[in-house]
Amino acid sequence: MSKVTVQSPANIAFIKYWGVKENTQYIPYNDSISMTLSGCQSTTTILADKNIREDIIEIGQDGTYETLKKTTEKNKKAYQHIARIRAMAHVKDNVRIRTKNSFPSDAGIASSASGFSALTAALLLAYGLPHIVSDKSQLSRLVRLSGSGSAVRSIYGGFVEFLSGDENTSIAHQIADEKYWDLVDIIAIINTEKKTVSSTQGHSQAVTSPYFQTRLIELQPRLKETRLAIREKDFSKLGACIEADTISMHAIMMTSVPPIFYWDSGTIALIQEVIKWRKEGLEAYFSIDAGANVHIICEKKNTSLVETRLENIQLVQSTIYNEPCAGVHEVKEHLF
Ligand code: DP6
Repeated sequence: MSKVTVQSPANIAFIKYWGVKENTQYIPYNDSISMTLSGCQSTTTILADKNIREDIIEIGQDGTYETLKKTTEKNKKAYQHIARIRAMAHVKDNVRIRTKNSFPSDAGIASSASGFSALTAALLLAYGLPHIVSDKSQLSRLVRLSGSGSAVRSIYGGFVEFLSGDENTSIAHQIADEKYWDLVDIIAIINTEKKTVSSTQGHSQAVTSPYFQTRLIELQPRLKETRLAIREKDFSKLGACIEADTISMHAIMMTSVPPIFYWDSGTIALIQEVIKWRKEGLEAYFSIDAGANVHIICEKKNTSLVETRLENIQLVQSTIYNEPCAGVHEVKEHLF
């Protein structure tokens, strides 16, 4: 059989999902909205062949590849996903998979959105199911079953919404494509340590926060406001939503049982910096996922101002520049 290679971006959620309703279908409690990230891409090559003795996934780092062992929940899910799609295709061939990220793997940036969306599309193509890749509703559902909800939003380019709902209706749709709005996300890397609590664990304990039901109510007007801000290209409106939602999600994390603290002192310092910049007239907004690193969202025209300021902050180890980009797609160049 021939090889296929797929590339897919990570994304930053403006309205975040935290909490899954149902553990086998991975349906989120709330709708989420995100932008794809050009600087954070996974590339995955798959060969399916009857002569391959067992499924193998190799992860690239600095030019060398290491076999992914089934040691963590996420790794097990990746191998289970291979079996799921193979069964759908009614074939028996095992796969050899190589995958690498465009961003440093030690940067403390979650790669599951780009990784699981690339893996799903590449498996479907390798197992002869290209019609599922073209049918975005079916592709959404399958990516969701991989266990990475954020990956569902990477199947489209640009600005994407992932709906809650049921096993059929919890899918992604595109709000606007990657050319629609010149926004930039500069990720300030301040902590490269692996997160101590996985998102999977966090999603399952979100409901234990006494404020969880309140979040589900108070984020509804914010979702509407975010859709409107994107439609009107109103950056100030969007920025206010982005920050409010980050604080709301982290409040749930910090008040769940047991509490989860992803922020460190550097995170707080950067939040305060961004607020100070705005008072000085530089419009930028912060967003933080399940980690300490800070995404700084600004209009493209302000990129160098933001980058220069970040260069002068000692705790920032490096930055990753991102624009909105295309979603998951096939590429010609293979990794092996
Ligand atoms: C905080 O289960 O999709 O990023 O990428 O492994 O963290 P990881 O996965 P996932 O949870 C994402 C949670 C979030 C918010 C969001 O992206 O909506």
